[in-house]
Amino acid sequence: MTKYTFPENFFFGAATAAYQAEGATDIGGKGKVAWDEMYHRESSTFHADQASNFYYQYEEDLRLAKEHGVNAIRISIAWSRIIPNGIGEVSPEGIAFYHRLIDACLLHGVEPFVTLHHFDTPLHLFHQGDWLNRAQIDAFVRYAEVCFSEYGDKVSYWITINEPWSIVAGQYIIGHFPPEIHYDIPKAVQAMHHMMLAHAKVVLTYKRMNFNGKIGIVHILESKYARNLDNPLDVLAAKREDVLANQFLLDASFLGVYSNQTLDHINHILDAYGSYRLIFASDDFDILTQAAQYTDFMGINYYASHFIQHYEGDSLIIHNGTGSKGSARYANKGVGERVTHPDVPTTDWDWPIYPEGLYDMLIRIQHDYPHIKEIFVTENGIGAKDIINDNQEIIDDYRIDYVSKHLQAISRAQGKGVPVRGYFMWSLIDLLSWTNGFNKRYGFFYVDFETQKRHAKKSAHWWRDLSISKTIQE
Ligand code: BG6
Repeated sequence: MTKYTFPENFFFGAATAAYQAEGATDIGGKGKVAWDEMYHRESSTFHADQASNFYYQYEEDLRLAKEHGVNAIRISIAWSRIIPNGIGEVSPEGIAFYHRLIDACLLHGVEPFVTLHHFDTPLHLFHQGDWLNRAQIDAFVRYAEVCFSEYGDKVSYWITINEPWSIVAGQYIIGHFPPEIHYDIPKAVQAMHHMMLAHAKVVLTYKRMNFNGKIGIVHILESKYARNLDNPLDVLAAKREDVLANQFLLDASFLGVYSNQTLDHINHILDAYGSYRLIFASDDFDILTQAAQYTDFMGINYYASHFIQHYEGDSLIIHNGTGSKGSARYANKGVGERVTHPDVPTTDWDWPIYPEGLYDMLIRIQHDYPHIKEIFVTENGIGAKDIINDNQEIIDDYRIDYVSKHLQAISRAQGKGVPVRGYFMWSLIDLLSWTNGFNKRYGFFYVDFETQKRHAKKSAHWWRDLSISKTIQE
């Protein structure tokens, strides 16, 4: 039997995001975001007006977290609570709310990791093009400055942007995020470049303001494997998918430059969509390079890995019937087709469960970016239709199994010297899944969305024991 032991100072964390947990979308002068518009259409079956009521129940949630061994929490600040239209007046009520929330985290001994942008651009800016509009970068820097001035003495870990890839894949490729555009990879690539600059400028701003804390970015980094390793066309397709979803962003945020190989692949992909080429300004790479040196940590969100095969033909979403995000099968012109693998189990939403892909990714990061001193796995978890039984118990053994196997992969990577300092289970409490609503649950704590009552799942009890023993037995 193998034993995996985590270091004494390891963060056993859990994650949330403002829009998915807070609710109170009309309170304190909060500005709207594009999701409000989308969810209030008649055809929509869910909305975030209440979500998990975290805006009002965060004290209780932090107490539960602490009691169950969660010693760190990812929260995000809603830009539209701080500056309702993204560029205008700062809202004193929004500022006060996050003071209360951050103070409560510190009081309960749950270290806050604070994200500035988690899929929720203020609506006014969204309508001006969101990250496709270069002008948004300066608005984001101003918002970040406000947050650093207010909370910089209290927060030790800042995250600039959550998952640039998921944002553009949802907005411009799969099209299940507003503005629901499909298969427009040129837009996706350009918007990613702008996000990389926004991230970089915020890192430099933070460092200029001279705080003692650390700042990093969160990428979703899922390994891409050729479906048939003996087929060079599958190998190329997997490489292209990796460059588009992973390498492009890793290059920008941790090297400060797109390598020639990255640009070659990106240009090949863009060729399939016409004559578009990425637009840079002359000082973009100075900014990216400086910020890459000052970025303190990398956050990795990992849910699945993907098997890719060669694909010819027009882009196509094959399994998107339920609106499931990251649909198991889709094909992108110029890239490849994502397929399932018969030997790899999947979640109820067809996401491949493949802890080995996390191990491979961690080893790759250490190899390619040895200067990164700290890595956090900032999201990992399994969405399921958890059932609460007559005794008010939720027996989520599948979650314990999933989390345990991914922690084992992390521990093995730590054994090879990869500096993983913490893990955040997605999510602390059940919350809104952007494109799957409320019946795809992820939390340690079950939320009854009618009464907003919380119930600790079996996994929460398991987590408490793990945080004490710091050991997993295989
Ligand atoms: C990550 C996001 O991509 O995946 C979270 O950072 C999100 O905000 C999580 O909720 C799970 O995705 P989904 O679509 O299953 O809720």
